[in-house]
Amino acid sequence: MNLFIKKPINTLLSEAQDAGEQSLLRHLGPVQLIMLGIGAIIGAGLFVRTAAAAADHAGPGVTISFIVAALGCAFAGMCYAEFAAMTPVAGSAYTYSYATMGEFFAWIIGWDLVLEYGLGAATVAIAWSEYFNKFIAEFIGPGWTIPYALCHSPFQSSTDGVSGIINLPAVAIIIGLTLIIVRGIQASASVNSVIVVVKVAIVLLCIGFGWQFIKPENHEPMIPAVTSVTNSLGISHSFGGWGGILAGAGVVFFAFIGFDAVSTAAQETKNPGRNMPIGILGSLAICTVLYVLFSYVLTGIANYTEFRTKGAEASVAYAISEHMTGYGWLAKLVTVAILFGFSSVILVMLLGQSRVFYSMARDGLVPKIFAEIHPQFRTPVKSNWLFCVFVGLFAAFIPGDIVGDMTSIGTLFAFVLVSLGVIMMRKSDPNAERPFRTPFVPIVPLLGAAVCGAMIFGLGVENWTRLIVWLFLGCGIYFGYGMHHSKVRLASSQSGQ
Ligand code: ALA
Repeated sequence: MNLFIKKPINTLLSEAQDAGEQSLLRHLGPVQLIMLGIGAIIGAGLFVRTAAAAADHAGPGVTISFIVAALGCAFAGMCYAEFAAMTPVAGSAYTYSYATMGEFFAWIIGWDLVLEYGLGAATVAIAWSEYFNKFIAEFIGPGWTIPYALCHSPFQSSTDGVSGIINLPAVAIIIGLTLIIVRGIQASASVNSVIVVVKVAIVLLCIGFGWQFIKPENHEPMIPAVTSVTNSLGISHSFGGWGGILAGAGVVFFAFIGFDAVSTAAQETKNPGRNMPIGILGSLAICTVLYVLFSYVLTGIANYTEFRTKGAEASVAYAISEHMTGYGWLAKLVTVAILFGFSSVILVMLLGQSRVFYSMARDGLVPKIFAEIHPQFRTPVKSNWLFCVFVGLFAAFIPGDIVGDMTSIGTLFAFVLVSLGVIMMRKSDPNAERPFRTPFVPIVPLLGAAVCGAMIFGLGVENWTRLIVWLFLGCGIYFGYGMHHSKVRLASSQSGQ
C-alpha cells in the first residue's frame, strides 16, 4: 500500500470547477478576505495574553515578542499564500499536502487542522464566556451574573471551593454562530465585517487615547534583566532577558492564529491567484502593526508588574480605568468590543473547520456526510452541526488553558508542514503556474519551519504528548476508514497504477 500516493494538482483544480451543485460559491473579494483574516486574528490573544506575557516573561519587551512571533507567522504566511494562490480549492494546508507530500501526510495535517480550528473556537468561546459574565456585571448588575458552576468546566473550581459543572455561555455562543454559518459564506462574511470594524476601532481608540498616558519609565528597561518569578500556580521560572522575549513570543503566538484560516476560503474567492496572497499577508501585516502599537501602549500605561497582581484579569480594562482618568467609558466599551471580537474569531474558526472536513470528505477520507452541501444555502450544513456538537463538548467541559495550548501546538505543527511543503512542491512540480511565489526558497520556508519548530519546543512536554495522542487517534481513523475509502487510491487501482 502506498501511503504517500499524491493527488495531482490538475485533478484538484478540475474538481473545484466541476462540482456543480455540490460546490461552494465564489463570492469573496480582497477586502472581505482581509476582513475574514482580521476577524479570525484579533481576539483573546491580544486582549488576554499580552498582559500575561508581559507579566510572566518579557516585561515591556512583549512588544519585541510580538515582532518575533509575527516573523515566524510571516514566513509561514508566505508559504500559505503560494499554495493558496496555486490551488484555490477549499481545505487549505490539507489540500496542498495531498498534492505535495501524499495522502498520509495530508490526512495528518487535515486532522491537525481540525484540532487547530475546533479547539481554537472552543478556547475563544471559553474566554467569551468569562467576558460575558463581566459584561453582565458591568451593564446589568453583579447579582445577575451566571453562577460559577454553570460557566466553568468540571475540572475547575473557584477560590471558595465551588466546582464547575458545565460552561453554558460557551456552548450558547457556538450554537448561535453555527446558526449564522449555515446561512452561507456571504452571511458569515457580512456579520464578520461588521464585527471587525468594531474591534479594530476599539484597538485604535485604545492606542490613540492611551498614547498620551504612556509613562516612559514603564518602558525602562525595554528588556528587563533576568530574574526568577513565581506564577499564579506557584511555579517559579525565569523572567526577562532574550529568553523572556522568546517565551513571550510563544505565548502571544496565539494572537496570530487565524490568518491561515483565510486560505480555507480559497474555493469561495474571486480571482484567488491575486486575492489569496492579499488576504493572507494583508491581514497579517495589519494585525502586526496594531499588535506592536497596542502592546507598546498597554505596557506604557501600566507597569508590567501590575499585571501580576490587581491587573491580572481583564488587564486592558484595568489599565484604562486605573491609569487613564476620564476614560471609564472606554473601559466599558472595551468589554463590549471584546465580546464582539471573540465572536468573529469563533465564527471564522468554525467556518475553516467545516471547509477542511468538506475537502477530506470529498476525497473519501472521512464519511461523505461532511461534503453534503445544502441546496439552498450552498454550505455544508450537516458538517457545521456535527462540528457544533464536537466543539461545544470541548467548550463545555475542558478548561481554556488546555484547549488554548493544544490550539497553538496544532497550528505550529501545520505551519511547519506547510513551510516544508513549499520546498517539496518546488522540486516535484517546478513548472506549475504560481501566481504568488514565496521569496528566497528554501531560506524563507526553512526559517518558517525553524521559528515555528522552536515555539513547539517551548510549549513543553505535556502539549507534545497531547498532540501525539491526537495524531494517534487520527492514524486509527485513517487506517480503519480513510485509506479504504480514498478516492485517489480507488482511481489509481482502477487505472492499474
Ligand atoms: N488569534 C485568535 C485570538 O487571539 C485565535 O483569539
